[in-house]
Amino acid sequence: MLVLGIESSCDETGVALYDTSAGLLSHTLHSQVDMHADYGGVVPELASRDHIRRVLPLTQAALDKAGMTLKDVDAIAYTQGPGLAGALLVGTSIAQSLAFALGVPSIAIHHLEGHLLAPLLEENPPAFPFVALLVSGGHSQLMRVDGIGQYQLLGDTLDDAAGEAFDKTAKLLGLGYPGGPQLAKLASQVKQGNPQIKLPRPMLHSGDLDFSFSGLKTAVLTLVNAHPNMSETTRAEIAWEFQESVTEILTAKCLAALKQTKLKNLIVSGGVGANLRLRERLSQEAQQRGFGVRYPRLEFCTDNGAMIAFAGALRLETMRLKAKQMDTQDYGFSVRPRWDLAELQAS
Ligand code: KG4
Ligand code: ZN
Repeated sequence: MLVLGIESSCDETGVALYDTSAGLLSHTLHSQVDMHADYGGVVPELASRDHIRRVLPLTQAALDKAGMTLKDVDAIAYTQGPGLAGALLVGTSIAQSLAFALGVPSIAIHHLEGHLLAPLLEENPPAFPFVALLVSGGHSQLMRVDGIGQYQLLGDTLDDAAGEAFDKTAKLLGLGYPGGPQLAKLASQVKQGNPQIKLPRPMLHSGDLDFSFSGLKTAVLTLVNAHPNMSETTRAEIAWEFQESVTEILTAKCLAALKQTKLKNLIVSGGVGANLRLRERLSQEAQQRGFGVRYPRLEFCTDNGAMIAFAGALRLETMRLKAKQMDTQDYGFSVRPRWDLAELQAS
């Protein structure tokens, strides 16, 4: 079965083709980062308009790369939410229109389920159950994953998400949007931290699996205010210390989640999962304790169509196994800008 996946929830238009026997055949992506950079963040109306411009050419390019035509497509998966309403409407309307025209089923995908399953696109994926750390611009969650649609929340952020903390801190340091990768680049200039630049580790010893990052950002603001004519070295040292704090907290909570659930494997997904320092520290500490850690390839940490096509293929398989009817489909559509992952079911 060939599944076409369409992602348009925020500032990336992603399209991919996933074959249930042959795996990922192709994926195409357009990032709007340059367009939004002038505004210091995503402008929702501009995002929607750009998705409209990109989605059909990207779909054609994905088909061409895979040597397929629309006639070969057996199902269309699309991101129904959460995300920006206007942006979601673009992918959703295109997906439903194509599915209607081709007479194939369409599958609404939860964006976070896409992120969560992305590490399974790689070779030798871990078997269920496992622990998942989902760290994106909008979420910082630890979950127990028992199967498709079986996600039990173990810990969540009480305020800012990890990616949001990276973005806000980057702004305080005068870096552009998106802040995460730029802050990581600045931090990489430092080999050893400056002991005089110290940031807290919020909730490190809270005894639960929740996070809180907003105090960290405030502590960075205090440091920035204390250094009015900050040198490039000091800026890099603050970035380094911030990254150390976030990676230490995330690593400790992941290890605690593995211990609590008595599971052996961890997967990491979402934009912050692309952070190399986090990968290095987490892998090292987990392996020392006999745990396995898996990540998506770097390009599949941030938003992409491959994770949506893949989640669609897995959901299609579950529906097929349950012999669910898919041919009496309603091609009307709605989006779910706010959508809790806990509401998802196995199909
Ligand atoms: O998963 P994603 O593409 O979008 C959401 O669904 O939110 O994640 C984007 C977030 C942004 O906050 C971005 O700054 C952060 O991931 N990010 C990073 C890195 N690459 C992206 N944060 C830290 N280090 C990185 N290398
Ligand atoms: Zn995302």
